[in-house]
Amino acid sequence: MARILTGIQSSNIPHLGNILGAILPAIELTHLNNNEAFYFIADLHSLSSIKNAEFIRQSTYAVSATWIAFGLDYNKHYFYRQSRIPEVCELTWYLNCFTPYPMLANAHSFKEKSKQLSDVNAGLFIYPVLMAADILLYDADIVPVGKDQVQHLEMTRDIASIFNRTLQKDVFVLPQAKIKKEVMIVPGIDGQKMSKSYNNFINIFLPEKELKKVIMSIITDSTPLKEPKHPDTCNVFKLYALLADKNDVETMRQNYLKGNYGYGQAKTALCELILDKFKEQRKIFSELMTNTEKIEQILVLGEKKTRAIAQQKLQQIRAILGYS
Ligand code: ADP
Ligand code: TRP
Repeated sequence: MARILTGIQSSNIPHLGNILGAILPAIELTHLNNNEAFYFIADLHSLSSIKNAEFIRQSTYAVSATWIAFGLDYNKHYFYRQSRIPEVCELTWYLNCFTPYPMLANAHSFKEKSKQLSDVNAGLFIYPVLMAADILLYDADIVPVGKDQVQHLEMTRDIASIFNRTLQKDVFVLPQAKIKKEVMIVPGIDGQKMSKSYNNFINIFLPEKELKKVIMSIITDSTPLKEPKHPDTCNVFKLYALLADKNDVETMRQNYLKGNYGYGQAKTALCELILDKFKEQRKIFSELMTNTEKIEQILVLGEKKTRAIAQQKLQQIRAILGYS
């Protein structure tokens, strides 16, 4: 049994890439080896780039509803909002005082964001320390993350080691990153990696008509209807292949290769597949989003359980630092 932990920022409705690349694999991990999962909404991290309360609130609900719709067992595991566990902020301060300044100044993601964003605030700078606190507060063993977060995990391990070494106590567990294999890069409607930042994402929870419009806008080449087409370079096919079962994928491949099969038909098949495959999840998501009280109830229960663990760990840390 291991303790797995991961967070997703509340910065939009999760898209198909987030679902296939992060949420589903994380839920699968909860079924292995009787693992114990801490899955949370990193809504404090979102504030480093978003200053719109209503947007953060709605995104928090949307991310939560997605976890629930895809089957996270929230009664068995720990499911919570980062902002409702204030212990994480106190721990962030302690860890700040053990974090070498150059470590933060050299972080790739800070350097990149500080070039792109007009609001380069101190929150953005200490972002990795808050992330370290998220992880170390719960003695997490395994942290599933995307490639872009690997350096943050290394920093977490470094900060934990410096703390343990300085105080000559094994206070913190050094977590392992579990990096998702990049076989699962979900392409967006323009063929680049699907991402909020490129505005090329598919929101599978859209009403049918709007979803259809998005699927119809997937970029394809201009091979005429009659001619054979290349499945492996086509975005519609790639998305279909990620979702359909083997036989259906093979049938579509043959359709592409033999010609007289248009991209419009392939797009219609993809749209129908999404509607059918995610029928149940779409239903649960929309019910929860129209009854956010239910989401609140689930989160509040999770936060109560989680906070008890956080408080216990923080007590231990305070004592070691001389604050109790
Ligand atoms: P975005 O690029 O839309 O801002 P994030 O960086 O917030 O997405 O990613 C959240 C999680 O979803 C990460 O674990 C990341 O690896 C995964 N993810 C995001 N986009 C994709 C994609 N196109 N294919 C596979 N996984 C993805
Ligand atoms: N920074 C992560 C991201 O943007 C989200 C996150 C916050 C996280 N705290 C975490 C992920 C702790 C794993 C563990 O994707």
